[in-house]
Amino acid sequence: MTAITADLAHAPSQARVVVYNERIVQQFVIAAMFWGVVAFAAGTYIAFQLAFPALNLGLEWTTFGRLRPVHTSAAIFAFGGSVLIGTSFHVVQRTCRTALFGGEALASFVFWGYQFFIVMAALSYVLGFSQSKEYAEPEWYLDLWLTVVWVVYLVIFLGTLLKREEPHIYVANWFYLAFIVTIAMLHIGNNLAMPVSWAGSRSYSLFSGVQDALIQWWYGHNAVGFFLTAGFLAIMYYYIPKAAGRPVYSYRLSIIHFWALIFLYIWAGPHHLHYTALPDWAQTLGMVFSIMLWMPSWGGMINGLMTLSGAWDKLRTDASLRFSVTAVGFYGMATFEGPLMSVRQVNALSHYTDWTIGHVHSGALGWNAFVSFGAIYYLVPHLWRKQLWSQRLVSWHFWLSTLGIVFYITSMWVSGIMQGLMWRAYDTFGFLQYSFIETVQAMHPFYIVRALGGVLFLTGMLLMVWNICKTIRVGKPADKEA
Ligand code: HEM
Ligand code: HEM
Repeated sequence: MTAITADLAHAPSQARVVVYNERIVQQFVIAAMFWGVVAFAAGTYIAFQLAFPALNLGLEWTTFGRLRPVHTSAAIFAFGGSVLIGTSFHVVQRTCRTALFGGEALASFVFWGYQFFIVMAALSYVLGFSQSKEYAEPEWYLDLWLTVVWVVYLVIFLGTLLKREEPHIYVANWFYLAFIVTIAMLHIGNNLAMPVSWAGSRSYSLFSGVQDALIQWWYGHNAVGFFLTAGFLAIMYYYIPKAAGRPVYSYRLSIIHFWALIFLYIWAGPHHLHYTALPDWAQTLGMVFSIMLWMPSWGGMINGLMTLSGAWDKLRTDASLRFSVTAVGFYGMATFEGPLMSVRQVNALSHYTDWTIGHVHSGALGWNAFVSFGAIYYLVPHLWRKQLWSQRLVSWHFWLSTLGIVFYITSMWVSGIMQGLMWRAYDTFGFLQYSFIETVQAMHPFYIVRALGGVLFLTGMLLMVWNICKTIRVGKPADKEA
């Protein structure tokens, strides 16, 4: 289904009809909701496994070690990736006032090619194939396939920018472009490997020892910086002004935000390798750049929040805005905590503990998932031209998931700091005061609270799916323009 829109930006005599490809955006929105359910269900299940190990079921396919990457990949790449690619296709067409470069066929290739990659990756983890690099677990043959899909995605995005009918490239597109280009670079760099067998589908990394670790965390941290941050900031810069009906608070600040963020992020990876064989100077470099990241991160947060000046009342009535604005608040929180944790002395306590897991999920749930919900609640009425079926369900979704986040991150903060302190406690004779198993026992109640947080978050997501299905099938017609 495509929409035909008369573009009246120019003088009426020059009015042009632009045929946007909205079907591809609809497909990604549906995929995102499907993968959201899978990712949150898997997350909740592995959270219960950590509290009750019997849930590993004694089968190799269902052990925590195999299901954990299913959760992380489903959350980041399947859910987050579908939201990012879908919204980027929507935003680039609208802000360039032109249809996607390459037509429906090329865009469909990206959709199906990407979904195929995700399904194959998940299957391979469950069957025990992994190159054991966090967030880059798929083996070489899947990496090659993803490279092809990603290059086609880049060609579509760049091609659309090049044939734009607007003189200006809106800032959201800069963030999307940084996300696409940097992820390509990271993916190729970190996955350079020598295949050693077809049958076993195994490979050896081109790097070894501390070089391997450094490349992995250059990749890992910039996956956070460019996948989970730059891409989602693009969403913030387009959908918050749209939903609020106001221009971005400061366009100049958004440009400074962009350049500062991409320049600083790329150096911060070594903060994952404090107190390792990595040279001290490299660790310090990672720490200093992480602390500097505070500034662009908060500059961006302020820009997002201030866009609402004069429109704060809309928070009471607009579902999309409520999620997006809360997301920006969580973004501020996670980017305050991150630089703090990158300080070597703080990291000495937080590393290896649940504090890191709490930090991850304040960003992942509060920022990434909430800003995605905001974009989806904005997009569905515009793409299907229907009014949202139930505003009450949206409220339920908002409060259940907010409560879920509170359960998740507070329990992990307490559990993490307690764990770190127990590990470093000595008795008067200089012996360790607690055995490892005592720390595990102490964490048990907090693991149950975290799992209950997951149940709340998942329930909220299911309400969203129900509401969106109803909207598409029986929603009242709306005169919204995508
Ligand atoms: C219902 C919601 C969720 C629940 C219950 C959940 C639960 C979990 C659990 C139990 C772990 C393993 C922790 C450990 O190894 O100690 C984990 C790891 C992780 N999850 Fe989630 N998760 C949820 C949503 C998400 C979302 C939406 C994202 C990303 C957008 C995400 C990204 C991650 C990442 C990156 C890790 C690895 C963290 C690390 O290694 O430091 N999760 N999650
Ligand atoms: C200024 C911004 C940020 C800085 C400086 C930062 C810094 C850090 C630090 C120091 C760690 C712990 C490393 C360790 O002890 O191993 C960490 C872990 C992590 N952070 Fe952040 N963070 C920032 C923002 C975010 C945001 C917005 C997210 C979004 C979800 C995020 C996701 C993660 C993930 C997934 C990990 C776990 C990586 C792993 O060990 O598997 N961070 N971050």
